[in-house]
Parts: sequence; C-alpha cells; structure tokens
Amino acid sequence: MRQAGRSLPEYRKVREGTAMLESCMRPDLVTEITLQPVRRHGVDAAIYFSDIVVPLKAIGLDLDIKPGVGPVVAEPIRTRADLDRLRPLEPDDVSYVTEAIGMLTGELGGTPLIGFAGAPFTLASYLVEGGPSRNHERTKALMYGDPQLWADLLDRLADITAAFLRVQIEAGASAVQLFDSWVGALAPEDYRRSVMPASAKVFDAVASYGVPRIHFGVGTGELLGLMGEAGADVVGVDWRVPLAEATRRVGADKALQGNLDPAVLFAPEQAVRAKAREVLDSAKAAPGHVFNLGHGVLPNTEPDALTRLVEFVHQTTEAR
Ligand code: CP3
Repeated sequence: MRQAGRSLPEYRKVREGTAMLESCMRPDLVTEITLQPVRRHGVDAAIYFSDIVVPLKAIGLDLDIKPGVGPVVAEPIRTRADLDRLRPLEPDDVSYVTEAIGMLTGELGGTPLIGFAGAPFTLASYLVEGGPSRNHERTKALMYGDPQLWADLLDRLADITAAFLRVQIEAGASAVQLFDSWVGALAPEDYRRSVMPASAKVFDAVASYGVPRIHFGVGTGELLGLMGEAGADVVGVDWRVPLAEATRRVGADKALQGNLDPAVLFAPEQAVRAKAREVLDSAKAAPGHVFNLGHGVLPNTEPDALTRLVEFVHQTTEAR
C-alpha cells in the first residue's frame, strides 16, 4: 500500500539526501525500495516504488513532492491554453521505469509486482488546485463551470495514465492499480457523468493484456458500484464499508481489496487481530479478496505491527 516504505528505517536510510521524485528515476533505488517491504514483512506482492505524479513530471510539468505536504504544481492547469502543456507520454519519457521493472522482476522471483498510476480525477485535482486540497473547490468549479474543458482535461490525463500503465505491463508488471484517492469527494451522478468516462478509457486501454486491474479510492462507499463498472476486476474499499456490504454494491463478478483501517495498527496486537479477522470474515461473501489496508500505511506505524499482521493473515487464511 502507498508509502508503506515510509515507516521503515531501511527506507529512510536509502532515501537520505535524495529527493522523492529523483528517487523514482533511479532504477537501483526503485528496486531496493520496492523490495524492502517484501523482505521485511513477507507480503504476497510488491508495489512498484514511484508516485502518481511521475508521468506528469516525465512530460515536463514543473512539479515537486514536498515532504509532509504532497505533490505541488508550480503553474496549475486551469485554462484551455494550459492543456497544451499536457502532451502525450512516450515510453522513452519513462525509460527508467522499464529498466527498474526489468531489474525487479528478476529479483522478485515469483512474487507478483503491482504497477500503478493516478486516475484522471485525482491527477486533475493536483493539477487544477496546484497541490493537495481538502475541498477540491477549484477542481469542482472547473468541472461544473466548463464541462467541455474538464472533459478534455480528463481525456488527456486518461491517455497519459493509460500509456504509463502500458509501459509497466510491457516491462513485466503482473497487475495494475488505478489510484483515484480523492474521488470520494464526488456524488455518484457527478462521478458517472464527469469522471467515469475517463477512468473507463484507462481500463479499456489495458484490458487486452489480461492482467488484473484494481480500482482504488477512499471514502467511495457510494461510488463502489460505478467504480466496478468503470472496468475494474478488483475494487478497493476503505474501512467505512464492510466488505460483505461492498460485495452487494460492486456485484458478485468482482473481487475486493481492503479494508483494515490503517490506524488500527496503533492498537494492541489482540485488537489488530480481532479487526483483521473481521475483515477476513466479511470478505467471505466476495468472489475474491486481496487483504490490504483501507488506505496507506501511516508514517509512524511500528514496522513489527505490520509484520505480525501479515503473519496473522497468512495463518488465518491457510487454516481455512
Ligand atoms: O508504498 C509505496 O512506497 C508505493 C509507492 C507509492 C508512493 N505513492 C510513494 C510515495 C504509491 C502507490 C503512491 C501513490 C500516491 N501518491 C497516491 C495514491 C494512493 C493513496 O495513498 O491515496 C497519492 C494520492 C499520492 C500523492 C502523494 N505522494 C502524497 C499524498 C504523498 C505524501 C506526502 C507526505 O509526505 O505526507 C506523496 C509522497 C510519497 N509517495 C512518499 C512515498 C514513499 C513519501 C515520500 C517521503 O517523504 O519519503
């Protein structure tokens, strides 16, 4: 899960003196950081170390990731003329991704590697706001105020995202995850009208590869059905909706991912186990389940709590 590495001392050590986005462009560092949680926790899959803004940086946008803040864009995208700065992504723009995934699949042996990208809405929010936003007011102003410009913006982002996922799959990623982290800010009808076409375009663009496609969001209880319809094989669920209920909303033809509250890891071990068991029990209704946290690992999480959780999930599911 996102930023899993941040809680690890070995992550902080290799990152020392290297900026986040610079690290993402160094195949040796990407390989080491991607492997760290697999080595330490024995998880069943690795998540590629990168960030959702990497493809935007790769097409030349002036942006940075500020520690403790998140992605910050020097010149936000708000007008039709600004769209010209969103040129298509070519595989050569991210040759370091191809190189890193080549190295990783060798090192990982049989452990699957999950590639990922940011979904058009969540990327648009950073680009329009210029940085992280609580209420997404400028983003929504554009979406409601100039639907055609909004649609064109999301369409360009869909093409960039699709190209970025294709690079990862062709290099050897065994599954891909589309992160629409902030789309829970929208009502279902707005999602259907203004966001779903672009996200569906991304899923369609990679459908022919046959790799599992995961669709992730936070606070998306009311959107789960539509997020499945957009083309996912697996729908991510946060801790606000029990998985049994999520299956009713998503339909019996899709697997679920989730959904332990990352804050639970700060509770005593017995409580963590009880909550993890609840997740596993609730998931029995789903046709498939990827056990995960409902959102990213919080930076102050004790690494051993994660290792114990992985062990507990393995023991519990193997006994069934
Ligand atoms: O666990 C991993 O390292 C996987 C790689 C990964 C990162 N970002 C690395 C990262 C993944 C999958 C992401 C996705 C991402 N990035 C999302 C979508 C998923 C989600 O969690 O909702 C979003 C919204 C972002 C944007 C972003 N980048 C944020 C909000 C932050 C945190 C800013 C902060 O310091 O609080 C980042 C930075 C970032 N991306 C870090 C890592 C390891 C932290 C960098 C550091 O300080 O070491």
